Amino acid sequence: MTVLVTGAAGFIGYHVSEALLARGEHVIGVDVLNDYYDVNLKKARRDRLLAQPNFEFVQEDIVNRDAMFALSDANPDVSLIIHLAAQAGVRYSLEDPFAYIESNVIGHLVMLEMCRRIEGLEHFVYASSSSVYGGNTKLPFSVEDPTDTPVSIYAATKKADELMSHSYSHLFGIPATGLRFFTVYGPWGRPDMAAYIFLRKIMANKPISVFNNGDMMRDFTYIDDIVKGILAVAGGPPSGDGAPHRVYNIGNNNSEPLMRFIGLIEEAAGKKAKIDFKPMQPGDVRATYADITAIQKDFGFEPSTPIDNGIPNFVDWYCEYHGIGRN
Ligand SMILES: NC(=O)c1ccc[n+]([C@@H]2O[C@H](COP(=O)([O-])OP(=O)(O)OC[C@H]3O[C@@H](n4cnc5c(N)ncnc54)[C@H](O)[C@@H]3O)[C@@H](O)[C@H]2O)c1
Repeated sequence: MTVLVTGAAGFIGYHVSEALLARGEHVIGVDVLNDYYDVNLKKARRDRLLAQPNFEFVQEDIVNRDAMFALSDANPDVSLIIHLAAQAGVRYSLEDPFAYIESNVIGHLVMLEMCRRIEGLEHFVYASSSSVYGGNTKLPFSVEDPTDTPVSIYAATKKADELMSHSYSHLFGIPATGLRFFTVYGPWGRPDMAAYIFLRKIMANKPISVFNNGDMMRDFTYIDDIVKGILAVAGGPPSGDGAPHRVYNIGNNNSEPLMRFIGLIEEAAGKKAKIDFKPMQPGDVRATYADITAIQKDFGFEPSTPIDNGIPNFVDWYCEYHGIGRN
């Protein structure tokens, strides 16, 4: 099977590509390798994929529709698209909202148009986000809950992706599934996310900023569980009457206090954090918690990595990647 993975040099795209290659698939990875965070980390992920014979890499911006359509025309055998390329990050969306509209809205439209051009396409799987639940206070967040009150432009673009996908699915019968990921962490993770930022500062004896005075809860999801969920869903395109479009949560189904998460990082790093408590940040939400009943029922998905195991794995990788020796 030929699978097109966008954002293949990104955190989740890299791991999904690895898993597909391990299963014997042919993977075409697309990534623009932008400098939102350390490009060397993206290149290191890409190079690990390129070391495998069934992987092809295309450095391209998904917004460039001519290039993307040329890619689909040249690869009519693509039967699955896993679309993960996006401008990620809630906080940065207050600084550069245009980057989000470009990659996440225009780019998403280009991907949908690409789907129309690939005759044998069986499934379009794309990344949404738990951030679509906005300021909802009913926990856990269920796919049945309203998602009309995004509290950041990032969240608004992810909700737009779901709406656009639904309309394309309805109009052109494209089987599509959106996945609302909940705070993903693990080896090869993102330097702009909490786990990485905290660990980097703890290692450098610098204070870490903890927002909302530490009163935050997150459904932290280990990367292997996310990959397992993506691949399970990818194998079962929606069908039936109406638009073949579905949305699922993929989370750990366990909302953890941020301070416990930090405690596990300290333990694995063998160092105490200096904590600088700060008020809530605009665009942020106090708690996330995934109701995964739908994906459990339809795909038998069960997350299997508590943060007690996932955090030490992340810290081990971090130290190895950055050449940090520990006692
Ligand atoms: N990591 C999480 O906790 C999380 C949570 C919810 C949703 N998501 C979503 O999952 C997807 C993957 O996230 P990630 O954590 O791997 O992020 P990431 O930033 O590590 O990966 C995204 C990749 O897409 C590439 N990219 C960005 N814009 C592009 C464009 N216009 N054209 C081509 N490539 C482009 C980037 O260079 C990057 O390598 C994203 O859609 C993100 O919004 C992630």
